[in-house]
Amino acid sequence: MSKRQVAVVVLAAGKGTRMKSTRSKVLHPVAGRSLLGHVLDTATTLDPERVVVVVGPDMEDVAAEAAPHPTAIQSEQRGTADAVKAARVALADFMTGTVFILYGDTPFIGTDTLNAMLDRRTAGAGVVVLGFRPDDPGAYGRLIVDETENLTRIVEFSEASDAERAVTLCNSGVMAIDAALLFGLVDAVNDDNAKGEFYLTDIVALARKDNIGCAVVEANAEELQGINSRVDLAAAEAFWQEQRRYQAMDGGVTLIDPATVYFSYDTKLAPDVTIGPNVAFGPGVKVGCGTEIKAFSHLEGVVIGESVTVGPFARLRPGAVLEDGVKIGNFVEVKNAVLGKGAKASHLSYIGDAEVGMEANIGAGTITCNYDGYFKYRTKIGAGAFIGSNTALVAPVAVGDGAIIGAGSVITEDVEGDALAVARGRQGGSDGWAAKFRTSQQAKKDQIKKGGD
Ligand code: UD1
Ligand code: CA
Repeated sequence: MSKRQVAVVVLAAGKGTRMKSTRSKVLHPVAGRSLLGHVLDTATTLDPERVVVVVGPDMEDVAAEAAPHPTAIQSEQRGTADAVKAARVALADFMTGTVFILYGDTPFIGTDTLNAMLDRRTAGAGVVVLGFRPDDPGAYGRLIVDETENLTRIVEFSEASDAERAVTLCNSGVMAIDAALLFGLVDAVNDDNAKGEFYLTDIVALARKDNIGCAVVEANAEELQGINSRVDLAAAEAFWQEQRRYQAMDGGVTLIDPATVYFSYDTKLAPDVTIGPNVAFGPGVKVGCGTEIKAFSHLEGVVIGESVTVGPFARLRPGAVLEDGVKIGNFVEVKNAVLGKGAKASHLSYIGDAEVGMEANIGAGTITCNYDGYFKYRTKIGAGAFIGSNTALVAPVAVGDGAIIGAGSVITEDVEGDALAVARGRQGGSDGWAAKFRTSQQAKKDQIKKGGD
């Protein structure tokens, strides 16, 4: 078997009204990745034959996020079993194997947990339900098991007796179901209940009636936290960041003040990276061995080599590439620019749409003037070039290898390798002028004062 005969259905038709947002709930991000994106990433680790996302009508934004996975539209929200039915066409020829039901708003389920469910499925259970024991079982559905730990049914909170409500084992909603049985079971569900909805949870009792084995796999409550509100979203972000900080430190990264460092879902850090306080990573950052990111730096879309120093207070934007040994100092912004090995921009610069050669030195206050209000242009600085402080490089422009630019220059024309270019007003003035100026001004002021008395 090349594939593991797994399909995944992600339920995401809910409007998520409690988010009070124009954006669909599952598109809100944690660590720079949508909730749905997190779920799809985890689903993908199962190596599934297909993944189908069930959305409501007018949820093109969710469909775009789901792509290349197809979406199925549930035209009216009539319950979780009805939502699964919407995936029927997409799963029409998926008859053998396991169908996982995941929720789009429950982003932290681990691959290990899903694999444990798959093991129970292949060991013979027709329906495997993921249970958990939250601190507050609240209104979750309760998993009712018999003396032999077999799952007999799931009871929704709204229909549960006091005794059933006292059960602490809750339904996460996540299930792994024998593909051959799924739609038979789902079609047998009715809406004869408190909410008048088609409850997917009813398939357990239906399966048991047909002597189909049902099992529970338990996961920890943190893994199963769902997001319904902005408060939940903040809690999820905090949880994710905390996990990621431990993971970074486990991987050999020093975090001087872990609680103040924010990672993205895809941040890649080599061992022996050191990260100072208050550093934020946006998506697409890769950092090489021995590099130090100092306090208050903000990075996104940047590839950083080994033994680089960045910051404090640096801003690295998409398309920045810092090769080994580069030094980026305080208040330097780099965007869409490659800095070759050992190049330095130590203070107060903007380097955008540029190529900077090895060992070049960019003086304080240097700006690449890359934009004319309509188009962007590139600046090329050669290896070993020395750009004097407060230079404006008006792109498109090229400075050759080893050239020196005098401080305060506005460079509008290309500079040859090893040349000196100075482009500023020549210094003038005269000796003693300042002293004479002060004497004459003071005399004028004294005269006016006398007249005023
Ligand atoms: C469901 C479970 C409950 C479980 C809880 C865990 C049922 C009947 N109940 O309850 O046992 O403890 O989840 O969070 O399944 N959805 C659709 N279409 C619909 C209805 C729901 O796509 O018609 C999606 C929602 O977007 C959401 C998920 O299914 O992602 C769960 O729906 P929700 O209404 O939150 O279910 P609960 O009532 O919380
Ligand atoms: Ca819910």
